[in-house]
This record gives sequence, C-alpha cells and structure tokens, in this order.
Amino acid sequence: MKTQEIFDRLWNDYSNQNPSAKKIKQLFENEGENVINDHIAFRTYNDPRINVDVLSKIFIKAGYVEKGQYHFEEKKLFAKHYELENDPMAPRIFISELQLEKCSDYLQFKVKEKIDEITDSVLNSDEIIFSGTSWSKPSYEVYTKLREESEYAAWLYVYGFRTNHFTVSVTHLKKLNAMEKVNEFLKSNGFIINSSGGEIKGTPSELLEQSSIMADIVKVDFEEGPYAIPACYYEFAKRYKDENGQLYSGFIAKSADKIFESTNFYEK
Ligand code: NI
Repeated sequence: MKTQEIFDRLWNDYSNQNPSAKKIKQLFENEGENVINDHIAFRTYNDPRINVDVLSKIFIKAGYVEKGQYHFEEKKLFAKHYELENDPMAPRIFISELQLEKCSDYLQFKVKEKIDEITDSVLNSDEIIFSGTSWSKPSYEVYTKLREESEYAAWLYVYGFRTNHFTVSVTHLKKLNAMEKVNEFLKSNGFIINSSGGEIKGTPSELLEQSSIMADIVKVDFEEGPYAIPACYYEFAKRYKDENGQLYSGFIAKSADKIFESTNFYEK
C-alpha cells in the first residue's frame, strides 16, 4: 500500500471520530496555513501477536526504517519511531507498547481475553492498524478498573488499533510559527490544552517543542450501555536544527510521557 493511501485511510477514521482535529485543520487552513503532518502515533500491548514490531510491518513494507527507541518506566511503556528513508517531509511513525508483564494479573487477564478474540486473518494482515477493536464490546466496569492502573491500557481496551493522534508540524507553519502562538490560537477557539508538565513540552535547546489538546470526549457503546469517554487528540510539534543544520527528527521521552496524558479524563 502506498504511504499516501495509508495516511488518508487513517486520517478519515481519526478525523470522523474526533471532530476537533478536522475543525483545527480547517482553522489553520483558514489562516492560509498548509498543514503538514509531523507524526502519527499508535498504542498497543507487548503481546507478541500485536506488539510494536507487528504494527510497524505495513510501514516497513512502505519503506520506513526504525530510527529511535524510548522507555517510559512509570507508565510501563516502550516505544519505537520510524522514518521514511529519503523523504524528510514524510510523517514519522511513533508506536508504543504496554509492558504487560509489569502489570497486575487482573489487567493481563482482561487484556489477553480481548487479544484472544482477534481472528488470525486480522493478526496475519498488515491492515491490523486499521482494525480498531476486532474484539467483543468492552465492559465499562472493566474499563474503569483498568483506568485506575493504566489509563493507556484502558484507552487501548476500548479503541484498539487506530491513530491515537496526528500532529501538526508547527515547523512548517508560516504565521503561527511558534508554540505560544499556536496554543493561544487554539485556546481562543475554545480548545483545552494539555497542561501536564506545562502547556509546552520540551525547549528549543532540546530541539523539539510539543503541545496537544485534550482528547475529544466521545460516546462509546459498552456492554452496560453508552458512556462518554476521552478518545483521540491532536498534537503540535516544532522542531529545531541541530549544530549540523539538520532538523532534529527524534522524540524526547520526558515530553512524550506528558503528551500521553492527553487522553486522561478532564472536566470541560
Ligand atoms: Ni506525538
């Protein structure tokens, strides 16, 4: 599958489920900006049937190569990022996985129960990244319990394999070319910025600054009925050139750690 086709399919699903992303892209375009995608992210569990290496297959086949690895001790996450060779404008891919063996027996049991329901045809297909939840309806009670231990695990239990966020490249904006300007613009349009660890994560000297809105709250059909819970969010990233004049292309673990919290519960 061509990379453009992959990104179009992912954007359609993501922007239909999360109207804020569509609205913000339109707002930027109304300002005369060309919205370029810095990176997209996926979440998974480290079960060998669906781990980072499985989810990345479709991108590897499309010419992506692994460029970095990241550890998040407290959140029990491990991640890799990928870049398309010879195309610095192509979006980076960031895929993280929850280290199940470090989680409670309850969490491991509830997660494995769902993974066991994924059919072989989905597991063996590169299209697993488009499959969302190909397991039975989640239970709100289980979701709530998982959330007490790992917000990440709970989100994945409900949403499965889909883009967790797209990212506007602030590096390539003309007018709204600073994180402060972007955040003010978003707030003046009524969006809530994730303020965990400050509204702007990272500094120019770290060569990467990031911010994000809090995830859209959407209605999900649980076994017990419909409940409104956080879904996906939109991120904003500005990259700086290193001492060799090369735009920094990696990620900063301590910033990403806070960005993960954009799917936490919040009061509007
Ligand atoms: Ni991100």
